[in-house]
Amino acid sequence: MREKIISVKDLSYNVENTEILKFINFDIYKNDFVGIIGPNGAGKSTLIKILVGEIKNYIGSVNINGKIGYVPQKDEFDRTFPIRAFEVALMGMYNEVGVFKRYKKKHYEKVRNIMKMLDIEYLYNRNVGKLSGGEYQRLSLARALVSDPDILILDEPEAGVDSNAQKIIYSILEDLNKKGMTIILVSHDISMVLKKVNTVMCLNKTLHCHKNSIDMTSDDLKKIYSEELELLVHIDKPLKVVSRND
Ligand SMILES: Nc1ncnc2c1ncn2[C@@H]1O[C@H](COP(=O)(O)OP(=O)(O)OP(=O)(O)O)[C@@H](O)[C@H]1O
Ligand SMILES: [Mg+2]
Repeated sequence: MREKIISVKDLSYNVENTEILKFINFDIYKNDFVGIIGPNGAGKSTLIKILVGEIKNYIGSVNINGKIGYVPQKDEFDRTFPIRAFEVALMGMYNEVGVFKRYKKKHYEKVRNIMKMLDIEYLYNRNVGKLSGGEYQRLSLARALVSDPDILILDEPEAGVDSNAQKIIYSILEDLNKKGMTIILVSHDISMVLKKVNTVMCLNKTLHCHKNSIDMTSDDLKKIYSEELELLVHIDKPLKVVSRND
């Protein structure tokens, strides 16, 4: 039987009498590659913040059975703070090392290896304030990966990243998934999500569908995007979705 790694039951979240998330139920299994899609304001980042423990005053139950690595949508880290790229990546091991202990050679080596894997070793000694958006995004991924997470959660990692860097990120995610990591990816790139992930969650305040990506239909997408998207759906796979602004 597949091992359940995340279990969410009857989850709701309100802010000042406004429903942000409503009665959400789902399970995620070890080694799933889950895509979360939904329009702006659908509650995707809120759901992620609940999973990673940043938001605690929700209603319902959330069970997580593993260590989470998190790449936030917009990093609140102050980039004017004079700190170098490798030091940002080291922060990912903060829990392991603790406040008063020192980082050891093995920690620095790990950071370097992961930066190498992400093709950003050349940034190792750079000041973070000087990094481009795409470079910084990959550095955030490095910081999430140095803790050896069981579950990697990424909130729109493709935002502000050029297509080449996107390809690098997605191929790394596929690779990590093949090696056994559970991945949860929030993205507005629907065609890419449908191509890469095995499970899709359609969220718009409530969960409209949670199913295998090959079983997704244009109706599933219409339910959450309604007028926002013009859907070009071919009878034969692959399903192709084109935004009206494209
Ligand atoms: N602390 C808060 N106070 C009031 N409203 C909030 C708060 N946090 C989130 N919201 C509202 O909750 C809704 C969901 O926000 P959330 O950031 O989760 O959306 P999202 O699906 O991630 O959108 P996007 O695709 O734009 O990133 C939005 O309408 C947002 O304004
Ligand atoms: Mg968001």
